[in-house]
Amino acid sequence: MPHQVDMADAVTIGLSNGERDLDGIIALQRANLEVTVGAESAARDGFVTVVHSREVLAAMHAICPSVLAKVGDEVVAYALVMPFECRPFVPILEPMFALLETLDLTPSAEVPSRPIARVPSYVMGQVCVAPAHRGTGLFDALYAAHREHFAGRWELCVTDVATRNTRSLRAHERVGFQRLATYTDATDTWVMVGLWLRIVR
Ligand SMILES: CC(C)(COP(=O)(O)OP(=O)(O)OC[C@H]1O[C@@H](n2cnc3c(N)ncnc32)[C@H](O)[C@@H]1OP(=O)(O)O)[C@@H](O)C(=O)NCCC(=O)NCCS
Repeated sequence: MPHQVDMADAVTIGLSNGERDLDGIIALQRANLEVTVGAESAARDGFVTVVHSREVLAAMHAICPSVLAKVGDEVVAYALVMPFECRPFVPILEPMFALLETLDLTPSAEVPSRPIARVPSYVMGQVCVAPAHRGTGLFDALYAAHREHFAGRWELCVTDVATRNTRSLRAHERVGFQRLATYTDATDTWVMVGLWLRIVR
């Protein structure tokens, strides 16, 4: 059984488990695509870009479960886990994985200089919070659960945020993500950000 944290408003945070959770992720994802929410809402409240087929989601989740927030059986927020083994499943993310292979972490007081390829890391593949649950702390809770479940396995959680998605950028920086790089691909201009789940010196 996945570990569950009860929250006051009957939202539970835990790891995905089973087919129904995949359906819930897909429903929330489809509802938050830029084409679905429209340009005005996307600029104000964010949007998701990558569309995962059910087969790809199932393959990803066979490798590692994701973190979900649920009310009963309904998925109200998710933060997907995409270990490097998932690279062949999502060709649209190839520019990100290619950059990750070559990036050097900028040395800082906190983190010694290392090529990112030598840091045990994984990609947080997509995060989404249903409109009714935004601004309630769920975003922070999803990443707290990432740290809780995955810090033993990986040091660094990496994700890409479209520079246009200012709400998401702000939320990621608030929970501690640092900017690693900026790049442009066929889809958008992205900021690659990283969150240290634990610091190894
Ligand atoms: C992006 C998303 C996951 C963030 O979750 P959330 O619950 O809305 O985030 P929060 O409300 O906790 O935090 C948002 C922060 O951005 C700020 N903010 C809100 N709208 C903003 C905007 N248009 N531009 C910049 N900052 C904005 C808020 O004030 C808050 O910052 P603060 O804590 O310093 O006050 C959620 O809005 C979402 O799912 N949006 C649609 C899908 C999406 O964009 N996913 C991310 C893909 S990278």
